[in-house]
Amino acid sequence: MDGSRTPETPPVLILLGPPGAGKGTQARMLEEQFGLVQLSTGDLLRAAVASGSEAGKAAKAVMEAGDLVSDDIVIAILRDRLAAPDCAKGVILDGFPRTTAQAEALDAMLGETGQNVNSTILLEVDDVKMVVRIAGRFTCGACGEGYHDDFKKPKVADTCDCCGARQMTRRADDNAKTVMSRLDAYHEQTAPLIAYYDAKGVLRRVDAMREIATIKDAIGALTQSVMA
Ligand code: AP5
Repeated sequence: MDGSRTPETPPVLILLGPPGAGKGTQARMLEEQFGLVQLSTGDLLRAAVASGSEAGKAAKAVMEAGDLVSDDIVIAILRDRLAAPDCAKGVILDGFPRTTAQAEALDAMLGETGQNVNSTILLEVDDVKMVVRIAGRFTCGACGEGYHDDFKKPKVADTCDCCGARQMTRRADDNAKTVMSRLDAYHEQTAPLIAYYDAKGVLRRVDAMREIATIKDAIGALTQSVMA
């Protein structure tokens, strides 16, 4: 597999990187720019927790501790979402896969519809700086737009630039202790996927310590080559 695709098969991109690397920030911009659908397993799991479903109950404490939710739960959630009609436009996976078992399950799922992973974009960052990024993060509770106390402030304080709502929220797992656990989980269980996708010839690396707009351009160019 080299990531090539025919025009009939919807593109599949993965954004890979540790907590705070900018996966969500960039995925939302790619969605807008290319008409792809962002699939964030973090968002899907937070929705499951909020709904009080069995999967959500099982995931809640694990997420608050900064550990990874079990492969069975995450794969089932992703499989359901991937089958929704809007995903026929193509998807950007944000936060999935995070283990080798998840990567293998994804390959099998995509294989059922003749798809494969076309590009895995690794956001390379300095771990130490991620704690600052995450501690300063907040999100519009109405439309999901992400902000930061220092790097991306709304034009009017506490008011979303995109939808005008005044419902900014901060995540329960965005504290320094949990971030350290999330970084450990990334290095132990997710970083092996770098070699996994490199061996398939689909890994691309982006320096994600630069300005958000500069990174967007770099990722946009890589995405364009997949869309062509
Ligand atoms: P998830 O929601 O996926 O969190 P994460 O991977 O820890 O990633 P983050 O959302 O924290 O970071 P990001 O890379 O999206 O950064 P962002 O763009 O927001 O997962 C949460 C939990 O769910 C996990 O811990 C786990 O328990 C569970 N889970 C999820 N998926 C799972 C799976 N597949 N398997 C098992 N468990 C799973 O940016 C961060 C901040 O920095 C923002 O404020 C942003 O404005 C700012 N920023 C972004 N880019 C820049 C830049 N270039 N310069 C300056 N600031 C920037």
